[in-house]
Amino acid sequence: MNEMTAVTQATAKAPKTLAIPDAQTVTEVKHWTDRLFSFRVTRPASLRFRSGEFVMIGLMQTDEKTGREKPLLRAYSIASPSWDDELEFYSIKVQDGPLTSRLQHIEVGDEIILRPKPVGTLVHDALLPGKRLWLFATGTGFAPFASLLRDPQTYEDYDEVIVTHTCREVGELQYGAELIDSIRKDEMLAELIGEDFADKLRYYPTTTREESPKMGRITDLMRSGEVFSDLGVAPLAPETDRAMVCGNLAFNLEIKEMLEDYGLREGANSDPKEYVVEKAFLD
Ligand SMILES: Cc1cc2nc3c(=O)[nH]c(=O)nc-3n(C[C@H](O)[C@H](O)[C@H](O)COP(=O)(O)OP(=O)(O)OC[C@H]3O[C@@H](n4cnc5c(N)ncnc54)[C@H](O)[C@@H]3O)c2cc1C
Ligand SMILES: NC(=O)c1ccc[n+]([C@@H]2O[C@H](COP(=O)([O-])OP(=O)(O)OC[C@H]3O[C@@H](n4cnc5c(N)ncnc54)[C@H](OP(=O)(O)O)[C@@H]3O)[C@@H](O)[C@H]2O)c1
Repeated sequence: MNEMTAVTQATAKAPKTLAIPDAQTVTEVKHWTDRLFSFRVTRPASLRFRSGEFVMIGLMQTDEKTGREKPLLRAYSIASPSWDDELEFYSIKVQDGPLTSRLQHIEVGDEIILRPKPVGTLVHDALLPGKRLWLFATGTGFAPFASLLRDPQTYEDYDEVIVTHTCREVGELQYGAELIDSIRKDEMLAELIGEDFADKLRYYPTTTREESPKMGRITDLMRSGEVFSDLGVAPLAPETDRAMVCGNLAFNLEIKEMLEDYGLREGANSDPKEYVVEKAFLD
């Protein structure tokens, strides 16, 4: 091996980004569709969070005016549960998006910025005790539920957990579908909660623009009563049902109004009630 080859190899092994503040290292990347990917990163030893919360993550970018490097950060729900050694994220790829046009190209060994200050309303603490938990997601709004669905507390606190996920196309449901499958087979959760925990989990995926076994927006399927007859449950009631909502703004507003009509009230960390809402992205 000549000197030049050795230098090239050493460079290839070095991280692609320079030292950055609050850096964490990428340990896994999976591309689900041309618009969706998930990735895992190392977890800062000091980071404590409640399943369902979000943090700011990002990459360094060059300031056009000063030429200086500065962080470009966006809010991201943590998709992994609070007990996991690593952190998982489930992300959109916006082709001209300042962050995700670059983030979609990360590889194992790269570094990203992760500000260790978790916040959010999609947490068990913001809901009063109930019997049945509904998790309503559209698109990447599934991410916080990927965390909550892997948290033993979710099954300890409720007799039944129903997760609905509405996407345009079938391929956009795959991350969620595989996750549900892996949860049903999870030996640790079964050991902690009991073998019957998997029976408590109901999954209701729907698509709106591509043919699938269940078509339609979840809001329309609730209005028509189809979702309740499909699942064999009564419409939501404040005495028994609790709900968490995460999707685009129009969806959040529409379902919020419906939940209020069922008699559920919006809760917060400081004032737990019957449902909580968070935006999956800013419109
Ligand atoms: C509380 C909160 C939690 C979030 N959690 C996640 C998450 O877990 N995963 C994730 O992918 N994004 C999440 N987002 C959105 C995220 O912060 C960024 O907007 C996204 O990463 C795109 O960044 P960008 O710089 O490439 O484009 P931006 O300039 O931020 O967005 C450009 C446009 O792309 C669209 N867009 C942005 N994000 C999404 C999305 N997730 N799904 C569909 N369209 C979108 C919007 O129309 C937006 O105006 C969250 C946002 C908030 C407010
Ligand atoms: N997904 C794609 O294939 C695709 C491709 C290129 C660009 N984009 C752009 O990316 C952005 C985000 O797209 P996205 O598909 O991730 O998210 P989205 O537009 O928020 O749609 C996700 C799902 O939510 C449903 N929905 C939207 N509003 C609703 C409401 N008020 N009540 C109930 N359900 C509702 C949609 O149904 P409907 O289909 O009925 O709206 C869709 O099934 C959009 O600006 C879009 O133009 C998306």
